[in-house]
Amino acid sequence: MKVLYYSLLVFVITLMGCFLINDAHIDPTYGFVEVVPNFEYQKPYDTPLDQRYSYQNGTHRFWVYADDKPHYLGSNTQPRTEIRILPDYTSGIWQFEGLAFVPNGTSGATIVQIHGAAHGSTTILLRIYNGDMRYYSTPVIDTDLYDKWFKVNLIHDVDGGKVTVFIDNQERFKTHDQGPGMLYFKFGVYGAPTNISYYMESRWKAVKIYKKMLSF
Ligand SMILES: *[C@@H]1O[C@H](CO)[C@@H](O)[C@H](O)[C@H]1NC(C)=O
Ligand SMILES: *[C@@H]1O[C@H](CO)[C@@H](O)[C@H](O)[C@H]1NC(C)=O
Ligand SMILES: *[C@@H]1O[C@H](CO)[C@@H](O)[C@H](O)[C@H]1NC(C)=O
Repeated sequence: MKVLYYSLLVFVITLMGCFLINDAHIDPTYGFVEVVPNFEYQKPYDTPLDQRYSYQNGTHRFWVYADDKPHYLGSNTQPRTEIRILPDYTSGIWQFEGLAFVPNGTSGATIVQIHGAAHGSTTILLRIYNGDMRYYSTPVIDTDLYDKWFKVNLIHDVDGGKVTVFIDNQERFKTHDQGPGMLYFKFGVYGAPTNISYYMESRWKAVKIYKKMLSF
């Protein structure tokens, strides 16, 4: 009788645990280990960094204008002020995490990307258009993101060829990648090819990168 009672108790507690886990938002970094990043700054080549970037109270602020120069002389890419994260990666499962803020008015701006791919130059771009987040120009991943902090987690499973986007700990989008390559994360502001606002800004804090632990 006593054994039965204890079994029942254990069963009920386990069940409660399952409900609690299901109810809570998942932590996308579970099973990952943090990797210490290095930053490289990219900004219009003719403009000093402090005229397009600031770092105060743990917050990176990036801004750029539609008629700014590209990041190096001779490049024909759109203007950008971005941090390129090192190290590069070529295999395994990697993750970017950060809190982002985009002020109302910024539109047609990539705020985070994975650079490098077998096909094309990028694996994923996340752009803000009119307060909505899109994967490149389409589809829409999330809406109504102006003037608030939101958490972005980007998981790149290079071996499995998949990219997953979480916003505020909820999985919002999953797609194939563009094949392996020399890969790295970037965040900041980078003008889209069309429909860009004259002024583009994003703010970021608590930016971290992670690598998935191998399980044996
Ligand atoms: C940084 O923090 C200090 C103290 O909390 C505050 O006075 C200041 O306005 C903050 N600066 C920015 C740019 O947020
Ligand atoms: C953004 O600004 C425009 C123009 O001032 C305003 O009409 C709109 O409601 C604002 N959007 C948000 C989400 O605050
Ligand atoms: C750019 O704006 C035009 C006109 O509003 C629209 O037809 C087009 O779909 C937009 N492109 C993107 C990538 O949002």
